[in-house]
Amino acid sequence: MKKFLLSATMLVFLVSCNNEENAVSTETSKAAERGCASHTVLENQLRANPELAIKMNEIEAFTERAMQEGRLVNGKIEIPVVVNVLYRTTAENISLSQIQSQIDVLNKDFNGTNTDFNKVPALFSGVKATVGISFVLDAVYRKATTKTSWGTSDAMKKTTYGGMAPTSPTTKLNLWVCTIGGGILGYAQFPGGSSSTDGVAIDSKYFGTTGSATYPFNLGRTATHEVGHWMNLRHIWGDATCGSDLVSDTPSHNDANYGVPAYPHYSTCSGTPVEMTMNYMDYTDDRGMYMFSNGQKTRMNAVFLSGGSRASFRL
Ligand code: ARG
Ligand code: ZN
Ligand code: CA
Repeated sequence: MKKFLLSATMLVFLVSCNNEENAVSTETSKAAERGCASHTVLENQLRANPELAIKMNEIEAFTERAMQEGRLVNGKIEIPVVVNVLYRTTAENISLSQIQSQIDVLNKDFNGTNTDFNKVPALFSGVKATVGISFVLDAVYRKATTKTSWGTSDAMKKTTYGGMAPTSPTTKLNLWVCTIGGGILGYAQFPGGSSSTDGVAIDSKYFGTTGSATYPFNLGRTATHEVGHWMNLRHIWGDATCGSDLVSDTPSHNDANYGVPAYPHYSTCSGTPVEMTMNYMDYTDDRGMYMFSNGQKTRMNAVFLSGGSRASFRL
């Protein structure tokens, strides 16, 4: 349908071009003739080769896409965030200011404006990243429920289970805030999964920095960590003993770190490097994590490039 419309537009354009050519040819204005000659040539080519119209329509569609770049702010991506709040208790029905405090943390952590960014040790100062992705609160939806906990099977994302379906998941990051249970702070869906369950679930006690936010996970870093997964980051220990996170500028970690490890904490993996325990993709307390690496930044940005699995967020 769109192609048909473009073809019609092109035809109208060519006709008007012909009229103009006819008009100027009676005046024998050479400059005007030169100006329209390319269209005459194009018209002849289109008559000789109907396939050309299809090709040109494809070029036009691509150009439109490239020109829109609606979500790029100064060439950087801005992600609209939809927050879905599921509550039974009043504490679970978190305030708008608690929600905004989480958006603020995401903006700081992904842009190196977090106040603890300067705590990154000199050893890692060359690889600490300003990711350059920003977040804007798009909408908040709330739903009262009778469930005491939602688990990790995506029930909170499905109306058939009493949850809430995502809103525009191919162009907006959906967050579900609810009681998850089982000691789980939050969980994310990696790129490539079904759009009907795409987004991040976070326990309301570990969301944002005010209200119900609970120490030692009261600095909004659960969302930073989970959004990292949503943008294709793996755990820094590679979910295996001395495993790989597919990022070359993060050292090998034996395993997850907890609490706030004393610096330097040495790995026993090959080369016994100092572990980057302050990375958001480790498991430390919120005050113990305050950086992404440049390699992680590259992986996250790749997801949003044209052809990337989350390229739709650019439009
Ligand atoms: N998925 C992880 C968990 O539930 C999140 C860890 C986040 N860490 C943090 N300090 N907030 O354990
Ligand atoms: Zn994780
Ligand atoms: Ca690594």
